[in-house]
Amino acid sequence: MAGGREPRRRRALVLPLPFQGHIDPMMHLAGALHARGLAVTVLHTRFNALHPARHPEFRFVEVPDGVPADVAAAGRIIDVILAMNAAMEASPAPVRAALASAMLAGGDEEAGAAACLFIDGNLLAVQRVAAGLGLPTLVLRTGSAACLRCFLAYPMLHDKGYLPPQESNLDTPVPELPPLRVRDLFLSPVSSHDKVREVLARITETVRNSSGVVINTSEALEAAEMERLRGDLAGAGLPLLLAAGPFHKLSSRSAGSSLLDQDRSCMAWLDARAPGSVLYVSFGSLAAMDPGEFLEVAWGLATSGHPFLWVVRPKLVRGCDGAQLPDGFEDAVAGRGMVIRWAPQQEVLAHPAVGGFWTHCGWNSTLESVGEGVPMLCRPDAVDQMMNARYVQEVWGVGFELEGELERGRVRDAVRRLMEGEGAEMRERAKVLGRRVADSCLESSGSSRITMDKLVSYILSL
Ligand code: UDX
Repeated sequence: MAGGREPRRRRALVLPLPFQGHIDPMMHLAGALHARGLAVTVLHTRFNALHPARHPEFRFVEVPDGVPADVAAAGRIIDVILAMNAAMEASPAPVRAALASAMLAGGDEEAGAAACLFIDGNLLAVQRVAAGLGLPTLVLRTGSAACLRCFLAYPMLHDKGYLPPQESNLDTPVPELPPLRVRDLFLSPVSSHDKVREVLARITETVRNSSGVVINTSEALEAAEMERLRGDLAGAGLPLLLAAGPFHKLSSRSAGSSLLDQDRSCMAWLDARAPGSVLYVSFGSLAAMDPGEFLEVAWGLATSGHPFLWVVRPKLVRGCDGAQLPDGFEDAVAGRGMVIRWAPQQEVLAHPAVGGFWTHCGWNSTLESVGEGVPMLCRPDAVDQMMNARYVQEVWGVGFELEGELERGRVRDAVRRLMEGEGAEMRERAKVLGRRVADSCLESSGSSRITMDKLVSYILSL
């Protein structure tokens, strides 16, 4: 069925939220559906627009996003989500026209009737327009199953007084969501709780109104959480709730959907390093630090004595488009450290020279590290990253969190802990877990592979 000259019978439409951590899983999912014989049309916004030429196998249709220029320039995810939804609700006609155009079969052999639209869970406004056109929506959740449970539980967490968090209750366990503590629910240090509440209420509504939810996770990683989630949603009449990931193990399209150009020179640099010797350091596409913290990270890495590959992307340091490395740093790490703007991360993590990952614990980074059996030093920043770090440390035992102030001596010690002594046990556990997760996608009896086939059958039945 996959590839070949056989006409593609049905078409899936996909619309990611236009941020890297949401685009990547949606495009991987699109790739996995295409490989199973579905035609795919990608709807994309002008804000953080994708590059159609990099995906000749898909059709592309632009959806007007309505994000005001100042909100787009600031690029804060919560503000973009709220602005997009508000603009689309105030003026649904352009969205309706884009969806209607994407639903039309194009007359070539690749065309097929649109069966459904996969949307990011943050796009309730689009779901409402799709409903008006009679187009079923499936929700892609780009975070973990545990994260979705937490989002759905947000009203309860307020009613029971866990939220908003207080200094005094940060370490209080939340028995309704084990093993989380109040500090792990603290979704954003900078967003007002009213905004967070609105976004999460919209996600809940989108999930409940959908024809199914697909989560970028694996039963090999979150079987208990999936079971609990099924219980939480039992009364919602949801036709489908699937763990079908990690999608990047089912299809590989990372370079094509990257918003920044990947610096591939690091691969040759890694080739020249001993197996398991390099610490890969990256804080994803959104997390930021103060200039003082940046200096402490730099000197902590320099004094650790370990080889490192560090991604310093634009705006990693608050208020700076391109961060300035401290005087003397390059000499101090010559031959041992490499700093780049953006990495081919999935390939880097799969490289045998990489022995550890210092990460902000975005869900994609966590999945990519787990999938390659690489242990993690966790420094979560916002949203779901605190709960991801909690699972890394307490449930899977494949890393630990660097808590408290970022200070060079503490950074140095944490890097040594990961790359030496105790890190060896975490690495062993990471390899076992990584194998299980990869098998769930690659083996013919693997749960995610079977689930993906089930998903395709479901789409064909719509
Ligand atoms: C975030 C988080 O997933 C989550 O907390 C929230 O839902 C909002 O989005 P982000 O912070 O960018 O995304 O982190 P992550 O989920 O790890 O995604 C980053 C993606 O960028 C990964 O797929 C990673 O492979 C890719 N990446 C990162 C690169 O390709 N190159 C790099 O140098 C760094």
